[in-house]
Amino acid sequence: MDKREQERDRRPRVVLGVSGGIAAYKACELLRRLTESGHDVRVVPTAAALHFVGEATWSALSGNPAGTEVWESVHEVPHVRIGQAADLVVVAPATADILAKAAHGLADDLLTNTLLTARCPVVFAPAMHTEMWEHPATQENVATVRRRGAIVVEPAVGRLTGADTGKGRFPDPVGIFALCRHILRRSDPAGGAAGALVPDLAGRHVVVTAGGTREPLDPVRYLGNRSSGRQGYALAATAAARGARVTLIAGNTELPDPAGVDVVPVGTARQLREAVLKAAADADAVVMAAAVADFRPAVYTAGKIKKIDGQEPEPIMLVRNPDILAELSADRARPGQVVVGFAAETDDVLANGRAKLARKGCDLLVVNEVGEHKAFGSAENEAVVLAADGTETPVPYGPKDALADRVWDLVVPRMAETRP
Ligand SMILES: Cc1cc2nc3c(=O)[nH]c(=O)nc-3n(C[C@H](O)[C@H](O)[C@H](O)COP(=O)(O)O)c2cc1C
Repeated sequence: MDKREQERDRRPRVVLGVSGGIAAYKACELLRRLTESGHDVRVVPTAAALHFVGEATWSALSGNPAGTEVWESVHEVPHVRIGQAADLVVVAPATADILAKAAHGLADDLLTNTLLTARCPVVFAPAMHTEMWEHPATQENVATVRRRGAIVVEPAVGRLTGADTGKGRFPDPVGIFALCRHILRRSDPAGGAAGALVPDLAGRHVVVTAGGTREPLDPVRYLGNRSSGRQGYALAATAAARGARVTLIAGNTELPDPAGVDVVPVGTARQLREAVLKAAADADAVVMAAAVADFRPAVYTAGKIKKIDGQEPEPIMLVRNPDILAELSADRARPGQVVVGFAAETDDVLANGRAKLARKGCDLLVVNEVGEHKAFGSAENEAVVLAADGTETPVPYGPKDALADRVWDLVVPRMAETRP
């Protein structure tokens, strides 16, 4: 084997299954991102998928053959080998039909055979009309493949084929790509993760808050903070990659929606409170990563506050906002619900963190020091996770994804046995 072949051989092997939905063309973007980031991608389209995007496109973009049938290159037994060799199978878009076939173990083409022979993580990114998605047959098929360990990304809400709008839209390919990367990183023993990926949040509903609240002073001004939302988005994306149904309550962020996550946008602390209490009603865990304003202006001025020559401005009076973390911790919506808070501190970081954990009554508190290249706005973070049982887990400086995974590692064993 020459050097080039050896390098090719080391690349993570991804099977991109494409089934026959109108969103097949969006899978080209996913394919391009996967190949450009160093993955060896084998596209396995269904015959129906080729009505939408031809074999030449899949083959040219992937650099690999893109047959649909088990009868091509039979000497290589592709119906077995492709699945066996894969590090990840992602079916995007996944039709109602392919979900039904996967749930029932049918094997009438190359993609369905591959799904039966793969022992790596499998992701489905469904796209279909709302009626097809909501049909009990589809929902039962989704539940079946999830129960067996596959990750089924929730479809997005939005414009569908034709004039229709609703749930069933293909999730953003950039988000699916991020999910694939995350799963590959976690399931790679050489990458420091614990061997094969276990979707340990499958069947769980988790609520994550992210970003920062804005407390309006007048129609053009507000009191805000510097939270970008990146840590909360990392928590939501990693929970989805671990199989959870995720509600992300996002305050004033400019980040793309993570694939398969229900995003609820909010503005103020009081809106965030309302959204989080509603979503927490059936949640197994609530992670409060948002920077919620402690105070808001006592008075909202309906018209823009004017600068008047020779006159000093009126002082701004503040009032307290509700303490959502303390409220969630004291009034658990269901027994065994895990509540996690965040504390960004500048001085006496650990001492302040321990005091806050005791005061709030949450199960875990992620304490991080605000600093250059840490916490607000940065892609990296470093923290100590304090637990109500007294344990303290330091998480070294690294990507926010890694901290997010560490938080879920600590949440999972604390969750109630029963699911809502
Ligand atoms: C224009 C058009 C668009 C379609 N879009 C979808 C879709 O988005 N999702 C879906 O589940 N089926 C869709 N279908 C139906 C599937 O193509 C059909 O069920 C097919 O048998 C799926 O085969 P496959 O799962 O083997 O790819 C569409 C059909 C047509 C003609």
